Amino acid sequence: MSSEVRSFHHEPTRTWSHVLVGADGRHAVVIDPVLDYEASSGRMSTTTADTLIKWCRERELAIDWILETHAHADHLSAAPYVKSQLGGRIGIGEGIRKVQGHFFKVFNATDIVPDGSVFDHLFADGDTFDVGGTCVTVMSTPGHTSDSVTYVADDKAFIGDTLFSPDYGSARCDFPGGDAGELYRSVQRLYALGDETRLYLCHDYPPDGREPQPSFTVAEQRGGNRHLHQGIAEADFVSMRTQRDRGLALPELIIPSVQINVRAGQLPPPEDNGIAYIKVPINTL
Ligand SMILES: [Fe+2]
Repeated sequence: MSSEVRSFHHEPTRTWSHVLVGADGRHAVVIDPVLDYEASSGRMSTTTADTLIKWCRERELAIDWILETHAHADHLSAAPYVKSQLGGRIGIGEGIRKVQGHFFKVFNATDIVPDGSVFDHLFADGDTFDVGGTCVTVMSTPGHTSDSVTYVADDKAFIGDTLFSPDYGSARCDFPGGDAGELYRSVQRLYALGDETRLYLCHDYPPDGREPQPSFTVAEQRGGNRHLHQGIAEADFVSMRTQRDRGLALPELIIPSVQINVRAGQLPPPEDNGIAYIKVPINTL
């Protein structure tokens, strides 16, 4: 038996979350779960995460890990909620320390140190772990952010925002720690996984008339990705990406997302009235 994947779509942020079930059909990991958040009211809810949790319960899965491909800047992580419901350990790439170092300063978060210890585990390039008889290998794939990692299992790879769909292209590289040249080289490593490997996305932004799709094969990406198809030189990609990033607005949910996601999905500590707050740094981002 080989591993299998069930993907869950979050329409408001166009995020794909995935459950990878190991070869034994019993052990599984959750990848990039999403919390619902209404920016106008500051209200959080778990409707989307509950759908994923219900599916895991129906399958009677033992959740070993809740994995982040990176600290997302456009949606809030539901990792702690999923952990509270299903168990598992929250893991992310070790580059998160650098991302924390930056954003803890921006938000003057003095209650926490940027050593990654708020996560249960930090992964380094080449680390491996077992999920129900399936070996998962962690590949460091920086570029979009410095903490971006890809989780590879059998012929499946969970690539975060390393690539989007072939018709949309690639992720921005202008966040702190982002680097277009690094992204180019990370994508070449993904392509080296082989044409049949299925690359699972963190987001899909389909044009009108196409349904969101959770994955594309290496062959589809290498053959047709509008930014990173075969034959594009690194220098050409870097110049296109850099120019394009200059014109992009920040994601709508970046301010709540980075404050919460760099804390492994936890809220900042409540103030003495018992309420937790999200800060807005003025003229800083
Ligand atoms: Fe992202």
